[in-house]
Amino acid sequence: MKALIPVAGVGTRLRPHTYTQPKPLLPVAGKPIISFIIDQLVEIGIQDFVFVIGYLGDKITNYIDENHPNINREYVKQPERLGLGHAVWTARETIVNEDELFIVLGDTIFDADLKQMLHTPNSVLGIKKVDDPRNFGVAELDESGKVLKVVEKPKIPRSNMALVGLYKCTEVRKLIEALEFNINNEVKTKGEFQLTDGIQHMIENGTSFSSIHVNNWFDCGKKEVLLETNAILLQKPGYANEVLPDYENSIIIHPVSIAKGCKITNSIVGPDVTVAENTVINSSIVKNSIIGHFSRIEGVVLYSSVIGNDASIKGLSQSLNIGDNNEIDFS
Ligand code: UTP
Repeated sequence: MKALIPVAGVGTRLRPHTYTQPKPLLPVAGKPIISFIIDQLVEIGIQDFVFVIGYLGDKITNYIDENHPNINREYVKQPERLGLGHAVWTARETIVNEDELFIVLGDTIFDADLKQMLHTPNSVLGIKKVDDPRNFGVAELDESGKVLKVVEKPKIPRSNMALVGLYKCTEVRKLIEALEFNINNEVKTKGEFQLTDGIQHMIENGTSFSSIHVNNWFDCGKKEVLLETNAILLQKPGYANEVLPDYENSIIIHPVSIAKGCKITNSIVGPDVTVAENTVINSSIVKNSIIGHFSRIEGVVLYSSVIGNDASIKGLSQSLNIGDNNEIDFS
């Protein structure tokens, strides 16, 4: 069984960070989003991965090659960003002979029983109840959880079960054919070839999908959700640092994830803070924030902030959303 992870998107909602970093590489709770996904799938025994790359694809391949050398990996380039359905179809040659395929969106972290999904004999969609389903793919179900219909971003939803970006397909050839049918016939929703529309085509042609409820679902597409995900994951065992070096004249309020090589002096850091490697924090207070690598924070009070890599901030008390390679001096 292979896992297909589409990561070709531009991540407009997470600009400015995604001007320089692809969304799957943004760190939460100590590691990039894509590593959460890979680690979870490896844990249930999946070794073969296909990544559909596009925007800033080299950064993604470099990261995966360096940090996940033990998985079998193939990269397929999506020539144009025409939608998630198109991204999956682009990888058709690498998946067509698979009996089963997992598809996981490259910006989605979840807490789900993937083993149960793995052992379900038919195709499965991951779902979660949401208050306002209009921005999601939505699944209409019967009482047994069988999927009757899926609709992408319906104006008037007939169900509040959102598709979370986790799919298992046991009829891979039919999936490719359904996507190809939609592409050839210009079947688009919101201007894109949607995976949801491909699945609906399969349902109409007799493929059976069951559903599985995920416990937690973090669609890390926006700054607020990224910070919320960071805070929730740091509370879970295994993500935050338990033992840290003695930082000079500083107080650490757990949970935090502070990578190696960071220098913290005269500061209060935490709770709910992730700091990537080799960042310097001096005379500052930082809480509920994510800070990239090789950045420098000095004389600053930061909360609910996302700061990129190689950024420098001096003398400020604000909530910020700062991308990579910036230098800001408010002193
Ligand atoms: P999104 O719809 O969240 O798009 O894609 P995006 O570009 O990542 O983010 P925004 O909406 O501009 O902020 C969901 C997943 O599908 C992939 C994305 O990389 C993301 O993992 N995707 C989407 C593709 O690989 N190709 C596409 O053409 C569209």
